[in-house]
Amino acid sequence: MKHLFKQGTDQSAPVLLLLHGTGGTERDLLPLADHISPDSSVLSVRGNVLEHGMPRYFRRLAEGVFDLEDLVFRTKELNDFLDSAAIEYSFDRSNIVAIGYSNGANIAGSLLFHYEGTLRGAILHHPMVPIRGLELPNLAGVPVFIGAGSNDPICTPQETEELDRLLQGAGAPVTVHWEQHGHQLTSSEVAAAAAWYKKTFKS
Ligand code: MLT
Repeated sequence: MKHLFKQGTDQSAPVLLLLHGTGGTERDLLPLADHISPDSSVLSVRGNVLEHGMPRYFRRLAEGVFDLEDLVFRTKELNDFLDSAAIEYSFDRSNIVAIGYSNGANIAGSLLFHYEGTLRGAILHHPMVPIRGLELPNLAGVPVFIGAGSNDPICTPQETEELDRLLQGAGAPVTVHWEQHGHQLTSSEVAAAAAWYKKTFKS
């Protein structure tokens, strides 16, 4: 997959996996990584699917209606890519924390829904429920931060609460942070994610 890797100064810090929103690139979330854990290595991946020229991580049939067959295929593709990137760049495969926004948060959620041990934790900015009716793997000890909008028209509060319930039901400690700026990713949401990261992974 098209990606960039930046070696960090602290080899024991989690590797940050950056996953952009629809129409983004692997450069979009680099400022977030600097903010959240500047010493970490960064693996930033571009979505492999194009929608009218806009990169995404999986196909959708309409706004908010996912092509589930493609979602499952692309989730495996990304999980396999993480396995091979860990070998290529010599980092600890079990020490990856994802930071995703929108479509990127949805593929990160899908990784958590499908593969035990694939992520050590995740920061999901404006995620949806990626897929329903699955038995989730054990997510005990996999902390998740959800940044949500009380007036987000794409990821409704009801869907945020459903995702929270599903993740907690699988054992994940979940923190939900609410904003009132629709689907936007604001600096106050990023600051809340950074504070959560510090409390969760640095103390
Ligand atoms: C998605 O398709 O993953 C969500 O609708 C969010 C988006 O990327 O617009």
